Amino acid sequence: MTDTIVTQQGKNHISIKDLPDLLIGADTMVPTLHGQQRYINFDNAASTPTFAPIAESVMSFLRWYSNVHRGTGFKSQLASWAYERSRDMVAEFIKADLKKQVVIFTKNSTEAINKLSHRLGLTKNDIVLTTLMEHHSNELPWRRAGTVRHVGLNPDGTISREDFLNKLKTYESRVKIVAITGASNVTGYINDIDFFACEAHRVGARILVDGAQLIPHRPVDMKPDDPECCIDYLVFSGHKMYAPFGVGVLVGDRRTFEYGDPQEVGGGVVDIVTLEDAYWTDLPEKEEAGTPDIIGVVALGKAIRMFETLGWETIINHEAELTAYALRKLREMPEVTIYGDTNPDNAKNRLGVISLNIGDVPHALAAAILSIEGGIGVRSGCFCAHTYVKELLQVDEKESKILEEQILARDRSNIPGTIRMSFGLYNTTDEIDRFIAMVRKIIAGDYDRGYVLNKEKGEYSNPKLTFHFEEYFEL
Ligand SMILES: Cc1ncc(COP(=O)(O)O)c(C=O)c1O
Repeated sequence: MTDTIVTQQGKNHISIKDLPDLLIGADTMVPTLHGQQRYINFDNAASTPTFAPIAESVMSFLRWYSNVHRGTGFKSQLASWAYERSRDMVAEFIKADLKKQVVIFTKNSTEAINKLSHRLGLTKNDIVLTTLMEHHSNELPWRRAGTVRHVGLNPDGTISREDFLNKLKTYESRVKIVAITGASNVTGYINDIDFFACEAHRVGARILVDGAQLIPHRPVDMKPDDPECCIDYLVFSGHKMYAPFGVGVLVGDRRTFEYGDPQEVGGGVVDIVTLEDAYWTDLPEKEEAGTPDIIGVVALGKAIRMFETLGWETIINHEAELTAYALRKLREMPEVTIYGDTNPDNAKNRLGVISLNIGDVPHALAAAILSIEGGIGVRSGCFCAHTYVKELLQVDEKESKILEEQILARDRSNIPGTIRMSFGLYNTTDEIDRFIAMVRKIIAGDYDRGYVLNKEKGEYSNPKLTFHFEEYFEL
């Protein structure tokens, strides 16, 4: 398996070892209480930065940039070709069959799930079976569409297969869709999609896999020729796979989108418009109203090329190595609580997403110290998965009610949560060492005492360090 990729210009051969240097912003220095430090980004589950070959590809495309599909000029035709080429690459990447399925470009995964939930034409009699592990994007759209039921969790935070099977039995043919995440953005657990897909189809339901976290880390096969165990619908986002230029993807059965009205209407979705009528055009244009995110789509194609050239084995091994290394170091500190699987030997079966707390230091304070004193970017809080985080932290109903009242009264000081570190392809064990050194300092109480809590935001700052962003970036 080769892990060499060639840039647009065919010059720079790179391997996974080169990725730290090819990262755009790799050596960015940021202000901290202890002077300028090289920034470490452990917030890849939220959004990934990009690599030079992808950025170069975007720059090189910009000279050809033009609107797609309707232009007669050479540039428009080239842009349309690149846009459609990327669509084909997406289909190949997740083994979709464009004769049966359609790849629709959206703004992000959230928009993709909203679009699907609208298109399925559910009624309140229809059950959407989702889980307690979901991101809000795979929960809230369904509440508007049908009646949502949740599959519960096992004590370790994985999804309970038993509860899933029981709920399928209880609701049977009323279950129209099983909406499940491919992997958790909180614990990094990877779900056995094959199992959930086969069981969903047994009762006549379809399955949506929220691939926002899974797609950048594992190969996914939609199995279009396997009606019993296929993935009916899949969504993911370019910005989580090194193409932070704004595009999302919804892939699904063509029949779902062929009939009926698209959710958004306007330019590009019609063949004929009269004063009385509008005749919808063919897929996928019918579902992509207005000018699409052409740059985002091109960048996504290039990112997919990078994944394919690096190869999944290389990607999985590298991320597992980082995850195992971090877990080993974190487990040496009894003050650190890790949520989910803590076993370094299981690192290949999960994502490099680790949620933790440090003693009784509030997560928001620990995250602020990591940034303000260590130059390390993580995320803290509930990661748009309130119900899952509350389950993991064992927040009971009574406590939950009190917190709800506080938050509604604009006091977020006690908001439950964790710190989340999440790895990308370019991260290194040296960076993990810097993180661990900071965690040790936090445990020892060896940090500045001047942090101030903004109750309304639930965030800490330190008046000794104020930022002047215009010194770093001008608009
Ligand atoms: C599991 C999961 N699903 C959905 C989303 C939403 O993705 P986007 O913000 O690109 O719409 C996220 C984002 O963090 C996620 O982690």
